[in-house]
Amino acid sequence: MTHAVVDPTTTSAWRALEVDAERIRATSLAEMFADDPGRAASLTYEVAGITVDLSKNLVDGQVMTHLIELARATGVAERRSAMFSGEPINTSEDRKVLHVALRVPPGEKLVVDGHDVAADVAEVLGAMGQFTDAVRSGAWIGATGERLTTIVNIGIGGSYLGPMMAAQALRRDTMTGLEARFIANVDGAEAAIALAGLDPARTLVVVSSKTFTTLETMTNARLVRRWITDALGEEAVARHMVAVSTNAEAVVAFGIDPKSMFGFWDFVGGRYSMDSAIGLSTMLLIGRESFAQMLAGFHEIDRHFATASLEVNLPILLGLLRVWYSGFLGAQSLGVMPYSSDLGRLPAYLQQLEMESNGKGVTRDGRVVSTDTGPIVWGEPGTDGQHSFYQLLHQGTRLVPVDLIGVLKPMSEHRSSHDLLTANLIAQAEALAFGRSAEEVAASGVPAHQVPFRTFPGNRPSTLILLDELTPFSLGALVALYEHEVFTQGAVWGIDSFDQWGVELGKALATTVAEELVGEGAVDHDSSTAAAIARYRAARARWA
Ligand code: F6P
Repeated sequence: MTHAVVDPTTTSAWRALEVDAERIRATSLAEMFADDPGRAASLTYEVAGITVDLSKNLVDGQVMTHLIELARATGVAERRSAMFSGEPINTSEDRKVLHVALRVPPGEKLVVDGHDVAADVAEVLGAMGQFTDAVRSGAWIGATGERLTTIVNIGIGGSYLGPMMAAQALRRDTMTGLEARFIANVDGAEAAIALAGLDPARTLVVVSSKTFTTLETMTNARLVRRWITDALGEEAVARHMVAVSTNAEAVVAFGIDPKSMFGFWDFVGGRYSMDSAIGLSTMLLIGRESFAQMLAGFHEIDRHFATASLEVNLPILLGLLRVWYSGFLGAQSLGVMPYSSDLGRLPAYLQQLEMESNGKGVTRDGRVVSTDTGPIVWGEPGTDGQHSFYQLLHQGTRLVPVDLIGVLKPMSEHRSSHDLLTANLIAQAEALAFGRSAEEVAASGVPAHQVPFRTFPGNRPSTLILLDELTPFSLGALVALYEHEVFTQGAVWGIDSFDQWGVELGKALATTVAEELVGEGAVDHDSSTAAAIARYRAARARWA
């Protein structure tokens, strides 16, 4: 069943929100908090051990009501049901979108077109688990009889960012004596550094690529394959290289035994795949039980997203807030600041999830969108960012909503450091929201000529996301929360959040340019591109 695309800007909810925006511009967070002592309580939600305080966002009750009406008018709930029931909601690629099937609890079914997709998922998970157990126990050894102690994950985009982010987030859950390195970029320097000091005899290479055609991954995979065979011989590949892909033919053509391939399906988008076989390196690091916990965390949020009414549905509320900021208050970006070193790569992960999903300019039925779509997502861990770009957040001229993410349980024995980290997180949200008026600054004894510079306008929105603790479970829940708020935004805007045609042109042009850089003939480009090619050719001749 296809769902008609509703232009959100034509709905009465949109018009009501335009009026709301005028009212919100004329008030402030300070006033809204003063008027309603119950504001924090009424705008705080808790799901799966994650507490989300929305109260420091530039909204009031009417805005929330109208945003929910907008979700209703644009069919968010219908689209959500369509996803869960396996309709091909990725219409531009005619694909189902079933990453939620990856975390169906053991023993449960998910039947789509008469086929139990959950059983397929369980089979692959079982194979991953067996392999993981064998590597971790030392039953799977290298070609020379050595235990495997380093995993080299080769992959890029969705075949890298999730496993890399999780390896850092779950480093405390990682088995002692096992280390992961990642090679993503086609820059040979990255491979060189990743392999430096490694013993091929003790290295397991996981080539992760949904398509098994990606330029970067295949280049690196060939390079690392040579590194293995030069040291250990061709036969060693079977003990030292495994593949994760949907493309069995290409895996075999590359020279990896299909028995050493872990599959997934085209209904799992790359950026939604860290809980599929793409998570093999994660499972190797943390073990199958902890991986199962991570899936349980994902599922807990899936269940909430699928069943909670719109008014209290956290991913839907988060998604609607993004729509509010970009559609009505002119925000261009979203900052994500994890106050946790372990979550340090979460912003990079979310950049792909959000921007590859919702950086779209046409609707599902091919019309140009009538409002701004996905925000530019960026961020760095707090407190590092405070000493870098928070100046702009506090006193700059742009509206930048931020997600401030903290973890209540300390991740080290340095408890007082954790107290300070958390103090900074909470204080930043307060400072952004309430600022410091010129009167307050003057009253604190600041010389008059400095008052304008030391005044903080405040009224800058943030969402406070607190994890009880950082575990495989809570990481899964956190990621699922973002996956579904991304879904919600896309559903409101009527775009296809699951294709990524926008990455193709650059890739195609690079193929041509790659040939030209190493050739000598005339090139047919604009003068700037032609000059860059000429410059590189000349440099290449010098370095040859
Ligand atoms: O170029 C973008 C992209 O297709 C992403 O969507 C994907 O996650 C990444 O490349 C890697 O693709 P693959 O897993 O097929 O190597």
